[in-house]
Formats: sequence, C-alpha cells, structure tokens
Amino acid sequence: MTTIRTVRAREVLDSRGRPTVQADVHLSDGTLGRASVPSGASTGRHEAVELRDGGSRYGGMGVLKAVESVDGAISDRLRSESVDDPERLDRAMIEADGTDDKSVLGANAILAVSLALARACAAHQRQPLYRYLSAGAPVTLPLPMTNMISGGMHARSAMDIQDVLVVPVAARTYSQALEWISDVFRSLGELLDQATLLPSGVADEGGYGLSVTSEEALTLVTEAIASSGHEPGNDIAIAVDMASSRLVDSRGGYLVDGDRLTSAEIVDRVVSWTERFPIISVEDVLDEDDWDGWVAATQRLSHVQLVGDDLFTTNVRRIQRGLDLGVANSVLVKVNQIGTLTESRAAVALAREHSYSTVISARSGETEDDFLADLAVGLDGGQIKIGSLTRSERLSKYNRLLQIEEELGESATLARPFAAARTAGAGAVNPRRNG
Ligand code: PGA
Ligand code: ZN
Repeated sequence: MTTIRTVRAREVLDSRGRPTVQADVHLSDGTLGRASVPSGASTGRHEAVELRDGGSRYGGMGVLKAVESVDGAISDRLRSESVDDPERLDRAMIEADGTDDKSVLGANAILAVSLALARACAAHQRQPLYRYLSAGAPVTLPLPMTNMISGGMHARSAMDIQDVLVVPVAARTYSQALEWISDVFRSLGELLDQATLLPSGVADEGGYGLSVTSEEALTLVTEAIASSGHEPGNDIAIAVDMASSRLVDSRGGYLVDGDRLTSAEIVDRVVSWTERFPIISVEDVLDEDDWDGWVAATQRLSHVQLVGDDLFTTNVRRIQRGLDLGVANSVLVKVNQIGTLTESRAAVALAREHSYSTVISARSGETEDDFLADLAVGLDGGQIKIGSLTRSERLSKYNRLLQIEEELGESATLARPFAAARTAGAGAVNPRRNG
C-alpha cells in the first residue's frame, strides 16, 4: 500500500509578486507531487477564503498562516494515509477545516495539498497528469478563450469591463488555434501602433491595458481579427468578461463607459453588442447576487454562451440554484474558488449533467505551475481561459497543451463547443442548445 510520507508547504510569489502557497506531497514510494495555488483580483464574494497573514509583511498578503495549516493540521491528518482514494483525503481536509468557506485552514492551504496530491498520485501511477485526472474517460484539447484587451481590476481600471477575448471557433487543432490567436494579437498590436493608442501597460493577464470604452475595444478586436486574415465570427469570435460585480456603484447601479445603468439596461447594451459584434460568449453579465436580473438576462441572451464566474464560484450549491432558476448556460471553473480538486470535479460534473458548458479558468494571479492545462484536458472541460499569449505564467499552460497535443498524437482532438452552432448560422451560438 502506498501512503503519504510527508506534506509540507512554502511561501512562493505569484505573477503579481504576491505570496502564494506551494505544497509538496511525498509518498512512501518516493514520488513527489508539487503544486502552487493561483489567486484572483476580482474575487467573488462567495469564494472560499484565501488565508492571508495581515500585518505589514508583504503588505499584509503573506501566507505563512496557510503554510502553517499545511505543515501542522493538514500534515497531521494526512500523514501515513493510503493514497488509494484521493477524494477521501480531500474530504478529510474539508472536515478538518469544518467551515463552509474553508476559513479555518484556508482554501489556499487545502487546495495546494489537493493539487499536489493529484500530481503525486499521477507520478505514482506513472501516468501523465491529464490521463490520471481523466481516469480512462475520453479527452479533448480545450478550445482557448484568449484575452486581448483588459480593463477593470486587471489593468488599473483602464477600460470598465474586465476582458475582451477571442475564441478561434473554426480552428481544427489546438496548435492551429494558438497560431490564429497569435495572428490576432499581432494585428491588434499593429492597429494600436497606427492609432497611436498607447497601452497603459501589459495587464495582469498579459493583454493590452487600454483606456478605451467597451465598444472601442470590441471594434478594435473585431478589426484585428479581420486584418489578421481571419473572418470575424466564422473563424474567430469574441468573448467578453463583464465582471459586472465590479461595475456596481454605491447607489446600486452599474457604471459602464460613463453611464449609470440598471440591470435591464446593461443587458440591453450587451444585446446590442451581440448584434453588432461577433460575440459568442458573455461572462458575469450582472452582479453575483442579482439572481432576478440573471433570470431575465438569460432569456434575452440565450443566443450566446452565458458564463457564470463570480455568480457560481465553482460551488455546486450555487450552480444548483442557477439550474433551478434557469440562469446562464455555462460554468467558469476556478479551482481556488472552491478549494479542492474533488469539489471542482463535482462542479464540472453537475454542469455537464445539465448540458451547461464549462470553461476551465486561470486567475489573474498565477504561477509557473501548469496544472490548469492537464486539468482542462483531464476533465474534458471543452474550453480554457488562461489570459493572453504573453507572460510566462500564461505560456506555461499554453505550452503544456502543445506537449499534450503532441503526446496524444492522432487522437488529439480539439473540442469544438460552438461547431454545431456555427452550422446553424449566426446568432445561434449557445452550445447548450446547439452543441
Ligand atoms: P480574477 O479574474 O482571477 O481576478 O478573478 C479572472 C476572471 O474574472 O475571469
Ligand atoms: Zn470572470
């Protein structure tokens, strides 16, 4: 029987230079699993708790308390346990914490161990991580949804909405998808040079941080797709992440591009964007607690993929509430929103059972850890959102997917969640109804 020999953690730095937790799990057969946890900036109210030290060290962002959770309580609980059933070990950590939001031990502590444990088990079974995670089920390579222009909390509030992204819907292979995205990113750079629109810097996810309105950003990205030689909508479509919970002001309205809008008005505006731009996916169109607004938004935007990020926080209870109300049609999956691999798997399974698509997502704060790539393949997530094609914490995942594509060889199929919708014609891109 293979057992856990040691569990320990350390504080390392993420792509914003902030501390995060890295854990090592050593098994009795000598194998090591190591993983680092990501960290968000536009964090949802209903996410599991990321334990931070406070005080003055690292501006209060230190994670030594979370490291102590791993080296103390978690190590005590898991040491000498068999790794035959890793889900049982995730549940043991959840029980040891004892809270709904993992605020005692810290979701960052628990997740670091949960992911490191998966790596250790994969190494023990001499399997690549994605194959271990798939447990023999068929897999596809995920279709990337890639950031081009950033705003909101990722670019010092340059643009109000958080993300304008591209999705190479007609790409045949993952490597072709990557080439097409790179074509658009280069074209966008040239357009910005010509328009003397100076980026305010590389944003947290590697895209351009621009002081433009949402519509200007949508226009720029549509033009960049066209000038890169691809057909907007047919070859490469646009996705937006509104991150609307960050647009709400103290008086309860949504502040977008200089206008104060009601929930119905922001949906009107997004509907009009979908009529004028090749948008196939809209994330967090409304505030995370505006369930009534979401019901109405889902009716009005049923022609696009409507993704819940802060709305669902990878939490099966919130996803179930969304299913009961008929809200959204897609779930963004961020492992650190919920804090274990087991619960992230459950979120994907629940979404799939109800024909909601899934988008496996990085955070704005990442590390060189490429776990996300194997996760998206192993869970057959269908779509992946990593950030832009710059910054090595992003490229480590994109490049890992190239390795997996090569390893899968002939059987490397790119997921095409929008394929059936494209055949059905423009304005019918909802993967639930059509795919
Ligand atoms: P975050 O942003 O990691 O800062 O939460 C990513 C997203 O909103 O999708
Ligand atoms: Zn989001």
